[in-house]
Amino acid sequence: MKNKMIYLSIAFALVTFTSCKKDAQSSGTDSAKTEEYKGKEIGSEFDAEIDKLVAQMTLEEKIGMLHGNSMFTSGGVKRLGIPELKMADGPLGVREEISRDNWAPAGLTNDFATYYPAGGGLAATWNADMAYTFGNSVGQELRARDKDMLLSPAINIVRTPLGGRTYEYMSEDPFLNKKIAVPLIVGLQDNDVMACVKHYAANNQETNRDFVDVQIDERTLREIYLPAFEASIKDAHAYSVMGAYNKFRGEYLCENDYMLNKILRDEWGFKGVVVSDWAAVHSTVKSLKNGLDIEMGTPKPFNEFFLADKLIAAAKNKEISETEIDIHVKRILRTLFQVKAMGSQSKDRVKGSIATEAHYQDAYKIATEAIVLLKNDNNALPLKLDGVKSIAVIGNNATKKNALGGFGAGVKTKREVTPLEGLKNRLPKSIKINYAEGYLERYDEKNKGNLGNITSNGPVTIDQLDSAKLQEAIEAAKNSDVAIIFAGSNRDYETEASDRRTLKLPFGQEELIQKVLAVNPRTIVVMIAGAPFDIDAVSKKTSALVWSWFNGSEGGNALADVLLGKINPSGKLPWTMPKNIMDSPAHATKSFPGGKTVNYAEGILVGYRWFDTKNIAPLYPFGFGLSYTTFDLDNAKTDKTSYEPTETITVTVDVKNTGKVDGKEVVQLYTSKTDSKVTRAAKELKGFKKVLVKAGSSNTVTIQLPVKELAYYDVATKKWTVEPGKYTLKLGNSSRDIKKEISVTIK
Ligand code: BGC
Repeated sequence: MKNKMIYLSIAFALVTFTSCKKDAQSSGTDSAKTEEYKGKEIGSEFDAEIDKLVAQMTLEEKIGMLHGNSMFTSGGVKRLGIPELKMADGPLGVREEISRDNWAPAGLTNDFATYYPAGGGLAATWNADMAYTFGNSVGQELRARDKDMLLSPAINIVRTPLGGRTYEYMSEDPFLNKKIAVPLIVGLQDNDVMACVKHYAANNQETNRDFVDVQIDERTLREIYLPAFEASIKDAHAYSVMGAYNKFRGEYLCENDYMLNKILRDEWGFKGVVVSDWAAVHSTVKSLKNGLDIEMGTPKPFNEFFLADKLIAAAKNKEISETEIDIHVKRILRTLFQVKAMGSQSKDRVKGSIATEAHYQDAYKIATEAIVLLKNDNNALPLKLDGVKSIAVIGNNATKKNALGGFGAGVKTKREVTPLEGLKNRLPKSIKINYAEGYLERYDEKNKGNLGNITSNGPVTIDQLDSAKLQEAIEAAKNSDVAIIFAGSNRDYETEASDRRTLKLPFGQEELIQKVLAVNPRTIVVMIAGAPFDIDAVSKKTSALVWSWFNGSEGGNALADVLLGKINPSGKLPWTMPKNIMDSPAHATKSFPGGKTVNYAEGILVGYRWFDTKNIAPLYPFGFGLSYTTFDLDNAKTDKTSYEPTETITVTVDVKNTGKVDGKEVVQLYTSKTDSKVTRAAKELKGFKKVLVKAGSSNTVTIQLPVKELAYYDVATKKWTVEPGKYTLKLGNSSRDIKKEISVTIK
């Protein structure tokens, strides 16, 4: 990890951000897919060819395929035409080329990529078509870099708002999680590449991630932590999965027989390859027998990996049979054939394109739908420019670039439009922009290595404002007709390998915001961040509050278009924004971060399930997001009143746009069963649909709810079980704003 840190800073220094020249290539991205996305299964048509190849391989050649032979490839067999399996990170776009034997960037000039909105932002679109576009667009970039596997998507459940990778992950809700993950994987794999779905599984904190033993009861595992992985395998047919660093019920996840053999392969029918997280392997024979296929890692001679020389020795000593090794080799070969990396069909493989204008436009589209309008009193937004001669743009985040942070989730790009640049691009030239940095991003150098590591002592961010910078900001706000503060965090503060200590806004931002608001009541606050923060006090004072993520190459343009009303915001929070960290389930139950072991004491009551069941008011609820127009839901109906467990409930509702501008609304369908014999959350998301409704018009939205979605996991019978009886279907536009209820009976 240390090595990663060093090279990350070198990368920061080396990369120059220049604006990208217009690229004429088109992505051919097709976002008009049908609602249900299904992937292609790994076929068996190459099995005879694969058997022939394996029969010709030496033991050493076979084992060469089971471990990294460079930082991001596993071995091939040249004499037999088997290529290396070439991988690249990551979740926000294709990571730059890394040297073969250390973490230093390779220093290529042709690996600048499109930076796409982070996972939380993508989930905030609540739009499966956006997820498909995302996957398809990144897939093309991956092919242009001649890779076979993208180490993405990252789909662990957001268990605590403090989790360092919250921005990378998608949601606290398993249903939203799977409905975004599946189309993303399908879009990606449509380009002759493999998704590597990570980090399987129960990997929900960075603190002690290398050894923490996660204890989750079986029902919670099945209902909360596995559904998106399960759908990634059964519906999207992801060709690979990454095993996580931590332990689960006493076994490391890269050698966890229950998770890898029993659930992933036997129950879900996974045919692809299991790749380890980097340096997450702890044994030789055990990990192979328990389901791992490829060991990847951080620098040390590659032959010293657990699945290298040690495995050759184990095979020679008959601790493992060659037939068993063949099973893993064949799995890898099957995926290589599947993505046309070898064989006669490789000539037809997708060629791809990278950092094209079309891909930047994909990133733009997603970014516009990701932005969440949290507060808008007196229609403060969109900004009305009549009479506005000057705008104060305040905050380090107005100019901060966020593409490169977060190790494997970093993207080297030539285009990252900052919020300030976005405003300059979109505002009439006659309006003067008074920029002031306001707060400085400063760390206590002694403790910087412990950034966010909640187990260490002492502050790591410097939260005193610089008085000259503060004064400059106050002056800019005083002397401008409108002020916009770009606050939040960055990709050093929110990052892999450490969790945050608190929800508090770092760097003295709270004081800055309050002081700016005091001199200019026409102040808009925009948060650039990927995880919840304590914005309770800020939210009380400001009339307009916008959430804008680490929002990709075109983030600044998308944001300006929302602020100025060219785009009507339609993003909805993919997690709960608590008022207080102690209100959050993992914290209320004092079960984060644990020590050697962490016991998920809140059980199934993760995220809004906890807040709603325990009647705790969040600051902003799951699913919440305003629009520049207003919507009414009316005429909510189901096609019948009573259903068999095998049937699907068709729910229809009219969405009326009661305002003056066109807008998109997300109709959310939650269910509840108050008389259940098992503990149930007060509400569970079971369906949603985003719809564009013209001002003054009404559209009928149909949501299909398969009755099997109402099942709970019965631990005694080890089966998903639909209880008969009465269920309430709740339709609304956030988990706390239910507008219509319908009661149905399941036979
Ligand atoms: C991360 C993975 C990443 C890998 C390779 C690990 O530290 O957990 O998400 O894909 O590094 O960079």
